[in-house]
Amino acid sequence: MKFNYLPNQYKKNKKIKINHSYLIEQFSDYKKIFHQIEKTVKRADYTLGEEVDKFEKNMSSRMKSKFTISVGNGTDALFLVLKALDIGHGDEVITTPYTFIATVASIVTAGAKPVFVDIKDDYNIDEKKLERAITKKTKAIMVVNWSGRPCELDKIQSLAKRKKLKLIQDACHCIDARFKNNSIVKYSDACTFSLHPLKNLNVWGDGGFILTNNKSLAKKLSMIRNHGLLDRNNCEIFAYNSRLDSIQAAIANYKIKNKLNTITNKRISNAKLLDKLLKPIKEVKTPSRKKHLREVFHLYQINVKNRDELIRFLINKNIDAKVHYPIPIHLQKAAKNLKYKRGDFPIAEKMANTSVSLPVHEFISEKQIKYIAESIKKFYLS
Ligand SMILES: Cc1ncc(COP(=O)(O)O)c(C=O)c1O
Repeated sequence: MKFNYLPNQYKKNKKIKINHSYLIEQFSDYKKIFHQIEKTVKRADYTLGEEVDKFEKNMSSRMKSKFTISVGNGTDALFLVLKALDIGHGDEVITTPYTFIATVASIVTAGAKPVFVDIKDDYNIDEKKLERAITKKTKAIMVVNWSGRPCELDKIQSLAKRKKLKLIQDACHCIDARFKNNSIVKYSDACTFSLHPLKNLNVWGDGGFILTNNKSLAKKLSMIRNHGLLDRNNCEIFAYNSRLDSIQAAIANYKIKNKLNTITNKRISNAKLLDKLLKPIKEVKTPSRKKHLREVFHLYQINVKNRDELIRFLINKNIDAKVHYPIPIHLQKAAKNLKYKRGDFPIAEKMANTSVSLPVHEFISEKQIKYIAESIKKFYLS
């Protein structure tokens, strides 16, 4: 039995010219990063050292957050926030069924019950349906800023305040995003991020971090990611070990300084061009763009007729079209104890059946984007 598998999405299909994953190109300057790592190794600075401090400062200033707490990965970031907010057994957390499993898994592993609310056509949780899902057991709302598009954060924040609920943003896709020209951090108790290799800002393995403007929450989080230690000899609470490796922090610092602006700006301009080129195709629904959001396009998704045939066609044209994701969480086997059924969240189900993700990353050329749009046009004309 094989326990350690390489996910397919890491494998570059050499035949496909326009790939979704671009891990080799992303780190083509690895020798410069080796130099950063060498300095870390020479300092014997392996856990919670200088590079981690620097990363937390860099991220706080970039994302306009009072505090950054780096952790082992994006899933731990969510779990640790729930733990730090004392959310667990007997509590309910409202979230979306249209997400990566980690969002929901963090709630379950914290001991609480996930309660789903359907999404809208923009893939984000429907803020108008949230209030109906609140019960006496509800302790928090965990929204997901799906694919780099912030939810309606001001409305959700005022509901959370009115109902005295904690608000957590799963912002794993959302580095550099903004809401009404503000940092997304100010709209919730905490925002969580992943530095996984497939994310917009990424490292050479797992990594994650939490942003918050709340000092006491930041203090608690920085303890519970490190065994609950106040200092070497004093443990305040029994807790976890989930630290961002210093080596990964060095990589992240290099990328923040040298790459992140290009990554964000290119994704935004690629998406704009795709929007323009795909708009005339009536079988393709491009998401409406809202002026008050700065979306950062971790994914570029469209909704289409004959989705599976289109994907096959595009792959034949050497374009790596994918689905994120074909099975919403309430229909996953892992969710069977939650007792949801098909039809419970019709928009999430519709999006799972009609959505296609097109490559939008910083390495695609304008010519390739035009080729993607032309190929889609050809599919519907033929
Ligand atoms: C929306 C969302 N939340 C959480 C995570 C978990 O992040 P990580 O893989 O770093 O644990 C991911 C990662 O893919 C994600 O896409």
